[in-house]
Amino acid sequence: MTALVQVAELTKTYQTGDVTFQALRGISLEITSGDFVAVMGQSGSGKSTLLHILGGLDEPTSGSVQVGEHRLDKLNQTELAIFRRNRVGFIFQFFNLVENLNVRANIELPALLSNSISKKQIRQHSTELLERLGISDQAGKHPWELSGGQQQRVAIARAFINSPALLLADEPTGNLDSASGDDVLKILGEFNQQGQTILMVTHSAAAAASASYVLFIRDGLLVDRMPGGSEKAIARRLVDLR
Ligand SMILES: Nc1ncnc2c1ncn2[C@@H]1O[C@H](COP(=O)(O)OP(=O)(O)OP(=O)(O)O)[C@@H](O)[C@H]1O
Ligand SMILES: [Mg+2]
Repeated sequence: MTALVQVAELTKTYQTGDVTFQALRGISLEITSGDFVAVMGQSGSGKSTLLHILGGLDEPTSGSVQVGEHRLDKLNQTELAIFRRNRVGFIFQFFNLVENLNVRANIELPALLSNSISKKQIRQHSTELLERLGISDQAGKHPWELSGGQQQRVAIARAFINSPALLLADEPTGNLDSASGDDVLKILGEFNQQGQTILMVTHSAAAAASASYVLFIRDGLLVDRMPGGSEKAIARRLVDLR
């Protein structure tokens, strides 16, 4: 299997006024195509920072970051924007849908922006995703008319519209009741079964249990790795790592 993601000695330092803060302090990792990786760690440990850098939303301070054929640490802002739009899909805790667009328009937006396939193909793909996510009858509604679980389904469809090589999810179940959260995990699991590579940040051992393996971050460093599968074992490891 080939590595889709290769990260070596990645650091990220934030400078706020006179204060510097090292959010990532030398992370190296490899993600194989088809992996479903969960990332766990305490608040402030650097999980979102890592996810943002892998998605081209933020730039590393030092180190190398390769995603597919792209060396992200060598791309300029314009190249990063193109990478972000075409190669990765994002799912966030608070859905981040565009409130004045209906469900279908939200899903199609990244494809229209990327301009790489025809409008007809985009329509076809959004129809497939609406069906696949069980929200076809919500297509004409606006985000505020939907439950949290439905909104997250729309966000998932939007994340997949450009067929991303890598799906990045930052606490995708963090703002959902447990039934809707389980639903989202089931959907992600199904996409992964069909070969989708996923990196998911989560505080939930139950969510991390759906992943093939779990990476633990503490103070900007990778400190451990274990297989997914057992919620109990993951919860125990989290306690041990505190
Ligand atoms: N833009 C920024 N400017 C300054 N500091 C930042 C910035 N973004 C993050 N940080 C700091 O970097 C550290 C890591 O932040 P990060 O968001 O990656 O944590 P996290 O592990 O995702 O936490 P949480 O579980 O609360 O989401 C935190 O101390 C945070 O305050
Ligand atoms: Mg975070």
